[in-house]
Amino acid sequence: MQVATAIAPVRELIRALPGPVAFVPTMGALHDGHLSLVDAAREHATGIVASVFVNPLQFGPTEDYAKYPRDYDGDFAKLAAAGVDVLFAPDATAMYPTGFSTTVDIGPMAHVFEGEIRKTHFAGVVTVVAKLLNIVQPDVLVLGQKDAQQTAVLRKLIRDLGYPVDVQIVPTSREPDGLARSSRNAFLTPEQRAAAPTLYAALVGMRDALLAGKSKYDATETADKILTEHALLDYFDIVDADTFEVLETLRPPAFVIGAARFGPTRLLDNLWIPD
Ligand code: PAF
Repeated sequence: MQVATAIAPVRELIRALPGPVAFVPTMGALHDGHLSLVDAAREHATGIVASVFVNPLQFGPTEDYAKYPRDYDGDFAKLAAAGVDVLFAPDATAMYPTGFSTTVDIGPMAHVFEGEIRKTHFAGVVTVVAKLLNIVQPDVLVLGQKDAQQTAVLRKLIRDLGYPVDVQIVPTSREPDGLARSSRNAFLTPEQRAAAPTLYAALVGMRDALLAGKSKYDATETADKILTEHALLDYFDIVDADTFEVLETLRPPAFVIGAARFGPTRLLDNLWIPD
C-alpha cells in the first residue's frame, strides 16, 4: 500500500492505478465495518483508494473532535492487509489551507434529524467529501448504510452537482448481539455496552410492527418499550429512503431510524425496508 499525505502526490499515485478505481472515505479508528467497505470496493473496482482524515469541519464546537479515537498505525496495518492500494492521510492543513472558506450545503435534507441536532455536521461532511471526490476522482464511492442520512445526503450531493461516480451502499456490519459497529462504541462503559444493543432491538421491533400493519404510533411505542431505560432517546422515526422526509405511514423504500444516548455517547442505527 502506498501512502500520501498531500494532494499532488496522491493524485499521481491514483493516476498510476489500474481502473476502475473505488474510494472508501473514513475517519480512521477502523473496525470490521470499515473493512467490509473495502471488501465491497474490491467487487466493483481494480484499484482501491481509502482515506483516513478526522474532519474538523463536521464536529460542532461542543463535540468530540479532540477525543475522536485515532489509531493511525492500526489503521495503516488493517488497510494494507485488506488490500488497499493507495491511502490518503492528509492533515487538516493539507485539506483546509489558510484562507479556505467554501462550504457545500445540499439543502433541507441536511437540516433534519442528525442535521437538526448537529447544526453544521452535514455541511462539514458534504464539503470534505466534495473535496475528496475532486482529489481522488473515483469511478465508485463506497459508503456504509450505518449512517443512512449521511448516505442520502451524499447521494444528493452527487446527483445535484453531477459527479460522475457510482455509489455503492454496504449493509451495516453488526456485532453478534446486533449492535451496529461504530468507532464511537469504543467510548461505551461495560454497562453502556451491555445496554447498547437495545437500540437495534427497538428498531427491529418497530420495523416488524409496521410490517405487521401497526400504526406508526403503535410501532414507535413498541420501540420505546424495548429501548433500555438507561438510554436517553433522541428519536425513532420512519423516513423516505431517498429524501429523508418523515413518513406517517410506511411507504417503502424507507428507513426506520433511531438515535439514543448511552451516557455521553450518541449512537445511531437504522433498518432498510425495501420496496
Ligand atoms: O462516515 C465517515 O466516516 C465520515 O463522515 C466521512 C464520510 C469519511 C467524511 O468525513
